[in-house]
Amino acid sequence: MRVLITGGAGFIGSNFIRHLLHVKKDVEVLNVDLLTYAGNLANLADVEKTFTGRYSFIKGDIADRKLIFHLFETSEIDWVVHFAAESHVDRSILGPQTFVRTNILGTFNLIEACRRFWPLEDMSCVGKKRFLHVSTDEVYGSVAESMYSTETSPYDPSSPYSASKASSDHMVKAFHRTYGLPAIVTHSSNNYGPFQFPEKLIPLIIFNAAKGRDLPVYGDGKNIRDWIYVEDHCKALMAVLRKGNLGESYNIGGQCEIQNIDVVHLICDYLDERLVLLGGRPRRNLVRFVTDRPGHDRRYALDTSKINEELGWRPGVGFEEGLARTIDWYLKNIKWVKNILNGTYMEYYRRQYGKRLHESKL
Ligand code: NAD
Ligand code: DAU
Repeated sequence: MRVLITGGAGFIGSNFIRHLLHVKKDVEVLNVDLLTYAGNLANLADVEKTFTGRYSFIKGDIADRKLIFHLFETSEIDWVVHFAAESHVDRSILGPQTFVRTNILGTFNLIEACRRFWPLEDMSCVGKKRFLHVSTDEVYGSVAESMYSTETSPYDPSSPYSASKASSDHMVKAFHRTYGLPAIVTHSSNNYGPFQFPEKLIPLIIFNAAKGRDLPVYGDGKNIRDWIYVEDHCKALMAVLRKGNLGESYNIGGQCEIQNIDVVHLICDYLDERLVLLGGRPRRNLVRFVTDRPGHDRRYALDTSKINEELGWRPGVGFEEGLARTIDWYLKNIKWVKNILNGTYMEYYRRQYGKRLHESKL
């Protein structure tokens, strides 16, 4: 069978391709990725070598309808696992337009291609074809203390990023109801692990703390996220592809809620043990509280009982273990990070943090 992965050169997509090719021997993967600033073929260097013949790459834009239709016309595609997106909230605040283009229009093109090339009226299609739309817990918006978002909670997105994901979720669901698209939507919490682009909290803090640079923490640092190790997310996606019910949504969470400042402190302490103290001072001293992200959601928290009970999936990696593995990976793969920290990244970094760090409080 052939699986079309979109955005497979990104963080979760590349981890998923590696996992899929290892656990399902009868698949061939076709990865379509535009290679934006976040896409990196180095994430798949081992895959290209190990799975020659079962893995191929096409550089392409999901917002390009002609290209997507051509792909479906020329290859028999059984599953689509759709990761491609603009994924960073801060960038969506700086410039929302590409989020609309990729996340909304790109998703629309993919499901239009499925509608055109998959025999949706034929029952055999239901058994064979799958469109898995990888969405986020951010569509539910900020969740009050001791409350949890279920799959039927109302949508309340706060950022242009989460609003664009919410919009694409609705379109995918509508295509299921209207045309019988064999679709499933997943809502994952915050992922962390190898190959995450260093604009996101955990790799950014690891890199800055290792180098003795300021650690920017938004607002009071008490916002809460529920962290999931990327490998657990990949396993959950496999469970959903194999056993999930069409037309349904599944929350995928790490059951690990933690305040940002505590995440930052854990990273600092671990690095203090692994590397020399900088100027004899613990890395916690590098923390700078900076101007908050506009519309910053206070807390995300998922009720994951549906996937636990219906599909028997549970996260396997605890936060401290996952964080240690992640930090070790970044320390070992410093070349990978350095290749990313080029002019474009530094330009973004200055724009996002320059003024904030200048005005920061200790
Ligand atoms: P990422 O930013 O690391 O990777 C995105 C990938 O999509 C990149 O390889 C990029 O080149 C590609 N891409 C972007 N625009 C494209 C386009 N127009 N056409 C083709 N490819 C394009 O993102 P990620 O963190 O791996 O997230 C993957 C998916 O998972 C996203 O849909 C995101 O919304 C969702 N998600 C992420 C998290 C998380 O914590 N990272 C949590 C829940 C859901
Ligand atoms: O919840 C799932 C979402 O998690 C995904 O849908 C997104 O694609 C992914 O980027 C992530 O979004 P967040 O905004 O939660 O992740 P980020 O790593 O950007 O930030 C995590 C928390 O840390 C958030 O409360 C903002 C804060 N933060 C982030 C950065 C980059 C800081 O305090 N300082 C920073 O420099």
